[in-house]
Amino acid sequence: MPIAVLCEPTRFLQPKSHDDLCAARKEITKPFSRISDYYNMPRPEIIQKTSDHVKQLLSGNGAGHDWWHVHRVWRNALLIGRQEDVDLFVVELAALLHDIADWKFQGGDEKAGSRAAREWLMSVNVDETTISHVCEMVDDLSFKGAGVQTSMKTKEGMVVQDADRLDALGAVGIARAFAYGGYKGQEIHNPEISPTLHQSFEEYKNSRSTTINHFYEKLLLLRDLMNTETARRIAAHRHEFMVAYLNRFFLEADGKA
Ligand SMILES: [Fe+2]
Repeated sequence: MPIAVLCEPTRFLQPKSHDDLCAARKEITKPFSRISDYYNMPRPEIIQKTSDHVKQLLSGNGAGHDWWHVHRVWRNALLIGRQEDVDLFVVELAALLHDIADWKFQGGDEKAGSRAAREWLMSVNVDETTISHVCEMVDDLSFKGAGVQTSMKTKEGMVVQDADRLDALGAVGIARAFAYGGYKGQEIHNPEISPTLHQSFEEYKNSRSTTINHFYEKLLLLRDLMNTETARRIAAHRHEFMVAYLNRFFLEADGKA
């Protein structure tokens, strides 16, 4: 789906009732609280500039965290977000920026992503409330181990977390898992190494395992961790596909197919 189509709902939102019109008029006539408000870009322009920026930064990443991963997350976040009562501007920004500097590629620095997101959002004059919300989401949303709580604080966070997790499932999720395993220099499968359910982020961050184990350490757990009904429905199908894939993998690995 072209990006222009994806952006449409937030670009052309129109007030519907008399009350909406009054609220919109108040918004237009309220005094500027900060000098940067005066120079605020229209939201569609901020989204477009942000997507251009992220595309330039992440294009060509061969570890499953490339621009097209972000694009799928963005699309899915809009798909889920339209079913929920959320601020789609915040959802779109967080979806676009969630992997801008992922700790996996930043020497384990957990705050690199929110720092880079803040720097970018300030450069396009986004207001501080939105910046803090987006940065909190970027900090919180990644999976940090089977035994580690990663609940999001806001509905917008839940939407983007679900969208990101959906891209770790199904046919795309399988492809991304092997791409990332190759990047990390992991074996595909080693029957002598068992999966580990990590109980802390440190343990998860420093673990070395196999890509097949990664299914048991993370991917197969995600279906039951979805926040929204829309994501739960999509995740159920993708989960089934991964189970079928693993069954076939073990048959072939054991010389039975
Ligand atoms: Fe991601």
